[in-house]
Amino acid sequence: MRIAVYPGSFDPITNGHLDIIERASRLYDRLVVGVLSNGNKNPLFSAEERVEMIRRVTVHLNNVEVDTFTGLLVDFAKSKNATVIVKGLRTVADFEYEFQMALLNKALNPEYETMFMMTNTKYSYISSSMVKELAGFRGNLTGLVPSEIIGQIKEKYE
Ligand code: COA
Repeated sequence: MRIAVYPGSFDPITNGHLDIIERASRLYDRLVVGVLSNGNKNPLFSAEERVEMIRRVTVHLNNVEVDTFTGLLVDFAKSKNATVIVKGLRTVADFEYEFQMALLNKALNPEYETMFMMTNTKYSYISSSMVKELAGFRGNLTGLVPSEIIGQIKEKYE
């Protein structure tokens, strides 16, 4: 059984993330979406809210599991019996940081492979921060995040 983890902050999940989840779920028997609950960023949504939102927009994918993690990604991957870490690459700007992270994770545990998926060009400009900024200015989030969670994001700024 090939198990992969797709880690991130997902604050909130965007259509770019969902696109990676849908495509990666077809490549592995099981895909575990790992929501970092103690990252450096000060999140808008609690880890529980982020997990619930991702579960709601991935109900159609029956080999996808969503869970939170704290600490090292390689330890989380191990706890899920995963051997692959999936990451999305949007632009060349993402590359340097992701390259460093992949090498560091490899050094921490050589058993893991990081697999990079190119983000769909439609979503290459989206980030969670941009979604939050737009929501703060009451901008239209249609097409940027799954429609099921638009109301929940707007509520945070009311
Ligand atoms: N579509 C849209 N947006 C995307 C995207 C995609 N396909 N892929 C990434 N992004 C966005 C994210 O929304 C995020 O936006 P933001 O900065 O506005 O919030 C940004 O790109 C960065 O995403 P990512 O590179 O996935 O970082 P992250 O902060 O979401 O998650 C972890 C980083 C959790 C993977 C990483 O910090 C980690 O592994 N932490 C655990 C500790 C550890 O093991 N560290 C390494 C060894 S010390």
